[in-house]
Amino acid sequence: MSAQDKADLVIVANRLPVDRFRLPDGSHEWRRSPGGLVTALEPVMRSGDGAWIGWPGSPDDDLEPFVEDGMQLVPVHLSAQEVEEFYEGFSNGTLWPLYHDVVAKPEFHREWWDAYVTVNRRFAERVASVAAKGATVWVQDYQLQLVPQMLRDLRSDLSIGFYLHIPFPPAELFSQLPWRRQILEGLLGADLIGFQRTGAAANFVRLVRSRVGHKTHRDTITLPEGRVVRAAAFPISIDSAGFEELARSEGVTRRAEEIRRALGSPRKIFLGIDRLDYTKGIYARLKAFGELIRDGRLDVEDAVFVQVATPSRERVEQYRILRDDIDRLVGQINGDLGRIGRPAISYMHSSYPREEMAALYRAADIMVVTPYRDGMNLVAKEYVACRFENDGALVLSEFAGAADELKQAWLINPYDINGIKDALMAAFHSDAKEQTKRMRAMRKTIVEHDVAEWAASFLSCLEEADSLRGRA
Ligand code: G6P
Repeated sequence: MSAQDKADLVIVANRLPVDRFRLPDGSHEWRRSPGGLVTALEPVMRSGDGAWIGWPGSPDDDLEPFVEDGMQLVPVHLSAQEVEEFYEGFSNGTLWPLYHDVVAKPEFHREWWDAYVTVNRRFAERVASVAAKGATVWVQDYQLQLVPQMLRDLRSDLSIGFYLHIPFPPAELFSQLPWRRQILEGLLGADLIGFQRTGAAANFVRLVRSRVGHKTHRDTITLPEGRVVRAAAFPISIDSAGFEELARSEGVTRRAEEIRRALGSPRKIFLGIDRLDYTKGIYARLKAFGELIRDGRLDVEDAVFVQVATPSRERVEQYRILRDDIDRLVGQINGDLGRIGRPAISYMHSSYPREEMAALYRAADIMVVTPYRDGMNLVAKEYVACRFENDGALVLSEFAGAADELKQAWLINPYDINGIKDALMAAFHSDAKEQTKRMRAMRKTIVEHDVAEWAASFLSCLEEADSLRGRA
């Protein structure tokens, strides 16, 4: 499709699937943007004719729509001040911590809210100008919760879906937000609102009933004008077959062997891969691992922890503090417990292409995923997808959405350091039979429920909701 055509399917997300990256010589290149959202939606976009509206990742770029890899990409411009107030501020300094169980303290600033309203309006206007008549628009995530209603006011012909990739908090926490009613009303502009977990959908419906006063019945909300909105869970997934194929490839197989050798061929490799975010529980897991070595339950000759932390939101204060804390902890553990050529923790603050991730997943015996709260956690699913030999162990926080489906993991409470230690040891000592039993069951789940199925089920429910609306 050309950059001028109107689109029948419009994805709207804060980020485009690619970031505009400035090189030292002043030129630019496009790089895949970070996070689970892009991983999940890229295959959906590739399989059809559609447009993706989003921010190219750096301030002050005012770019024309363009086509990349068969996807029509429509950049939305943010000024440096909007990056500060809308993206770093309201999205990641207010909503992100509030929606993740207040793991860090959310800040409430009226000028951040004003920027959130302004930028959401800009996104809505851009969608209105790109969407064909009667098009389906799928708005993504917490940065754009006002877009559904703003868009409905501009274009009542559209079928509007919204999907929240992160948790939706219980009423007791959400109610702290000074703009709670506006957010609920913004979301209610959609015909269908998708969440990761049923508990999140229930939180939302309960809040709509108590704070906005609309009638609700199970997962449906009836607005005074008769329009019906549905709020339900659609747990997101990954391109399971794609990951498996990559993991099986010769290049990845070779690279996985190389990684093991480079680590000194230890008996067992523990692995963590996360955006460097305070919700991910990186500190707790490294601390637990360090204690196991200190206690003599593990030996650095036998085991190493590989931690990849992808740089993220580096200008937000909480993220800076976290980076320093992790740097210090890794230094301390390696300084106290490592031996020559045998660090306890191999730590990389860097992002890697999919091939390298797949090689790490294949090289690792025990994958450690310990968030305090996480919408889904696609890393856990990616690990499972790559273990086509049905071996390997997954240690998973019960507070990640993925725990609803990957029930055969070694489940842990990330606040319980002794519990984490015991689970790491149980995974370490598990035999092949135990691993195969668990991994086989988890693999069945993610093969049956992949990202294509996730998108198809959301979009078909949206179509159903739309046909009901047509009849109303
Ligand atoms: C999570 C969020 C996404 C976000 C991604 C990366 O996956 O749900 O909306 O894009 O993190 O974060 P960033 O702030 O770099 O976009």
